[in-house]
Amino acid sequence: MSHHPLQAPPPIPARPRMTVIGTGYLGATHAICMATLGFDVLGVDVVAEKIQALAAGRVPFYEPGLPEKLRQALDSGRLRFTTSFDEAAAFGDVHFICVGTPQQEGSAAADLRYVDAAFTALAERIDRKALLIGKSTVPIGTAARLTELVQRLSPIGDELELAWNPEFLREGFAVEDTLHPDRLVFGVASEWAESMLRASFAPILEIGTPLVVTDTPTAELVKVAANSFLATKISYINAMAEVCEATGADVTRLAEALGYDDRIGSRFLKPGLGFGGGCLPKDIRAFRHRAEELGVGHAVAFLEEVDGINLRRRLRTVDLVRELAGGDLRGVRVAALGAAFKPDSDDVRDAPALDVARMLYLEGASVVVYDPEANANAHRLYPDLDYAASLAEAVSGAGVVALLTEWAEFRTMDPVALGLVVAQRRIVDGRHALDQDAYLAAGWTYRALGRPAVAPRLAPADAMDQQVA
Ligand code: UGA
Repeated sequence: MSHHPLQAPPPIPARPRMTVIGTGYLGATHAICMATLGFDVLGVDVVAEKIQALAAGRVPFYEPGLPEKLRQALDSGRLRFTTSFDEAAAFGDVHFICVGTPQQEGSAAADLRYVDAAFTALAERIDRKALLIGKSTVPIGTAARLTELVQRLSPIGDELELAWNPEFLREGFAVEDTLHPDRLVFGVASEWAESMLRASFAPILEIGTPLVVTDTPTAELVKVAANSFLATKISYINAMAEVCEATGADVTRLAEALGYDDRIGSRFLKPGLGFGGGCLPKDIRAFRHRAEELGVGHAVAFLEEVDGINLRRRLRTVDLVRELAGGDLRGVRVAALGAAFKPDSDDVRDAPALDVARMLYLEGASVVVYDPEANANAHRLYPDLDYAASLAEAVSGAGVVALLTEWAEFRTMDPVALGLVVAQRRIVDGRHALDQDAYLAAGWTYRALGRPAVAPRLAPADAMDQQVA
């Protein structure tokens, strides 16, 4: 049933029925939040276990606030889950595609096989006018290529339209970022597509969220440009940390002073072990790769340096642990605090913390990893490392403690109490998350990237021992 060009397109539903294809961090959060806003939503995934968990009210990953929202959405009767693309095609007025675009094995490019499969599966089945909305992070030009593909495959031809709506949510803040985003970006090719998107995001636009309406290549570019900027900002301050290390300057004071300049700002200017996760690292690599294909590789060649600075922080952290261990890591028990790529997440994809733990292990250290939420995921990736069930177990008898992910549980450790259970009071603060003075006062040797080494002070207990002696 295709519409004649002279026929008016079908009216825009006030509340379009939505499917969300791919129920990872992005898709699950999007599906759940849209249902809480009053839309009828069908979540779709090819992994049956994920669908079963979500349908039973269980979020299959750690994301603060999301389990409560899932409960609310399921109770409202507006959210259902399926593995059937037939059901999805029949149900949706709009289809959000939220599948992953990981880095290809052996290449910097993005792996688009899941994106292509999802668009293909929908296109073959949809037989009434509908809008496919890509949310996945993709190389520039993907929407144009997919438009051709889906219109060729679809029984309704060019009545099946495609738009791009990049997503900017951060893990750990996924609900907040979805319901109160800094901005919405609609990459569209027709007024009808724009109207469908406006209807789909009406409750979020009504609260005054800024909207940028543009073409699909610009929408695709916004996402990678934003993540590249954030990665560059982090690597910038980490490059300054390298300079600090050579000069005896202190990068934490430097970052503080720079951040007071409104034009620079203090967010994403936090030095330390650097960025990881399923987004920033692979996005800057895929962007460089795509720019080269487009003949503008020189324009983003600096991203290679951004990547290099970032990876050097991991090596330098290993250097600090080795220095504290007296130059040789063999047989030294190291407590690796944190495995997730950042706190409030159990995501260990390209996690700097786990990478450091792995390198310490390869140098012969006896590494005990503890993460409040990510132990299971980390164990799956690196089964050779030892994992502790608690902070106390991890630090007990440690020759060096390395803080690698700044969970609140680690930030609030008591240096005096901690000092009583370790074998040696030696700590590397890989995230500038600890109070240096408090650790020094408790008799610790404290080292952090980009900060001068300060001689440890005697702990009150040691001072007392000396008096007694
Ligand atoms: C990032 C972006 O911030 C989101 O806007 C985007 O939507 C998302 O990628 C995505 O592409 O899907 P996320 O990967 O959840 O979000 O994590 P961030 O909060 O950006 O942190 C990334 C890494 O940078 C972490 O490893 C964090 O520890 C590190 N970081 C962050 C620093 O080292 N210093 C900082 O000042 C800030």
